[in-house]
Amino acid sequence: MFFLKFILRRKAVRKMIDIDFGSSRYNELVELRYKILLEPLGLKFLDSFRPEEANYLHIGCVEMLDNKLVGGLILAPVNNNTIRLMQVAVDTVYQGEGVGQELVKYAEKRAKEAGYTKIVMHAMLFVVGFYEKMGYHAEGEAFNEQGITFMKMVKEL
Ligand SMILES: CC(C)(COP(=O)(O)OP(=O)(O)OC[C@H]1O[C@@H](n2cnc3c(N)ncnc32)[C@H](O)[C@@H]1OP(=O)(O)O)[C@@H](O)C(=O)NCCC(=O)NCCS
Repeated sequence: MFFLKFILRRKAVRKMIDIDFGSSRYNELVELRYKILLEPLGLKFLDSFRPEEANYLHIGCVEMLDNKLVGGLILAPVNNNTIRLMQVAVDTVYQGEGVGQELVKYAEKRAKEAGYTKIVMHAMLFVVGFYEKMGYHAEGEAFNEQGITFMKMVKEL
């Protein structure tokens, strides 16, 4: 059974989905973002942030085998042309299998469909290479926020 699951995982049948704010999938995504991004840095997800997220696009990757949310991200509008990519998170056991890349590609497609022409983001320094592979380029100097070093990255769609 484990072997079968392993084989099926490698040939993963996954789909990218839009997630409605406030839905049960949204709650799963909040938990995943907490586990992958915030908890390791000793940060908390504050419920007071939730209302802000109502206007964001929430995107997830679902493993069809067990209907599990294995990754996700948020897109937050900055102005009519620009949208900000945030909180890209892939569940630890699924990292390195192309999920992150598929998520970002799907997010770019959704952003373009919604009329945006530019994506901006603040990438933690150790993942800059991941975004460079996807056509993002660094803008300006690295900067520090709450002890974490970030680089502003941009991509024209
Ligand atoms: C960073 C993250 C989103 C990448 O997703 P992933 O599914 O593991 O990455 P993928 O399998 O899609 O990798 C795609 C390519 O990027 C490369 N890559 C992945 N992480 C990288 C990193 N940190 N630096 C440089 N390259 C990286 C992969 O080797 C792969 O290259 P290839 O196409 O030449 O084989 C994921 O590992 C993650 O959630 N990490 C923890 C949270 C985090 O740091 N999020 C980013 C917040 S800014």
